[in-house]
Amino acid sequence: MKSDNSPVLLNKKRLLRLLTDANTQRSLASLKKKTAEIKHMVMSSNDGDELFDGGANGNAVSLRRDILASELDQILEARTVERARYYLERLERGVKQVRTSAINDINLHRWKEHEEVLTDSLWVLPKRDTAGAHLGWYWGNFIPQIPRQLMLRYTKKGDWVLDTFLGSGTTLIECRRLGRNGIGIELNREVARKARELIKQEDNPHNARTEVVRGDSRTIDIPGALRRFGARQAQLVIMHPPYHDIINFSDDDKDLSTARGAVEFLKMFGETLDNVTPALERGRYLALVIGDKYAKSEWVPLGFECMNEVLKRGYSLRSIVVKNFEETRAKREQKHLWRYRALAGGFYIFKHEYIFLFRKK
Ligand SMILES: C[S@@+](CC[C@H](N)C(=O)[O-])C[C@H]1O[C@@H](n2cnc3c(N)ncnc32)[C@H](O)[C@@H]1O
Repeated sequence: MKSDNSPVLLNKKRLLRLLTDANTQRSLASLKKKTAEIKHMVMSSNDGDELFDGGANGNAVSLRRDILASELDQILEARTVERARYYLERLERGVKQVRTSAINDINLHRWKEHEEVLTDSLWVLPKRDTAGAHLGWYWGNFIPQIPRQLMLRYTKKGDWVLDTFLGSGTTLIECRRLGRNGIGIELNREVARKARELIKQEDNPHNARTEVVRGDSRTIDIPGALRRFGARQAQLVIMHPPYHDIINFSDDDKDLSTARGAVEFLKMFGETLDNVTPALERGRYLALVIGDKYAKSEWVPLGFECMNEVLKRGYSLRSIVVKNFEETRAKREQKHLWRYRALAGGFYIFKHEYIFLFRKK
């Protein structure tokens, strides 16, 4: 008996015939008997059986074995024949049809298989994904799980993702893994060069286009860049700007981290929004990843101030996600000192940042 969560390739016609056969039984007992037989076949994985002859005539369906087993169990546990038929028909629909929304590839008939996709507004991501080209070398990068979650939720395969503050290229590496096309804009020439190099090292099994453009996101010709790479508009915008001056990325006065004060920072952020908004398709999403900061013993709610800038520009707010952030090495080494300072000063140590999700009206 197998009970793993790996996908199993089944002959769709044969499976549907078996499910219909079970559904046409008159009594609950005989319906359950037929269902138990299907479950036994699925779990024992007898390769000689016609049910596992998935490849023939492209008539295959790939299902997660553990989820299929639990759906069959639900039928076996039903108390009435009506309820059992309801579960059977739902299972049939999941085998027969794909139902997705306009903004992603999540099959709603088989939503249980999309366990990886987060739906809670609190993301506690314990570890950075360091596989493949994700080296985590860039101070101020975000963890790959962030763009991954955003793309799974808000894009379809082949869509275009635009990252206006590319940094080390995390978003474009994930684009290659997920088969999304991507354009990343980065101001710093050296950082853009290094990102390009790393992105190239990531496998590209879906032939995604991943383009790094060096420039200032506030003024660069975004429609022109999209056209150059064969796209009309982007279907997802990801913005991970500097958290004002928390990290100084350069001394270039076009760099948002060099803004003299919060007012200038918000003005520069707003200019980026004005430049990027026409390039985003209506009805699609903009994700803003940002944290707050302290200045002169006061908490500066940078995240909410940036959120307000977005809301002034024709977007509706769909969600605010709070995400834990990993302790930096510096903070870890000075853990006791920070705790003492927090206790003495009456403040809390930052452990979270925000992911704001907006939909373009
Ligand atoms: C917080 S980091 C982004 C990190 C990125 N998400 C990653 O995983 O590596 C912000 C980046 O924005 C860049 N930047 C600052 N001002 C910019 C501007 N006006 N146009 C484009 N990029 C800019 C900085 O050089 C820095 O690399």
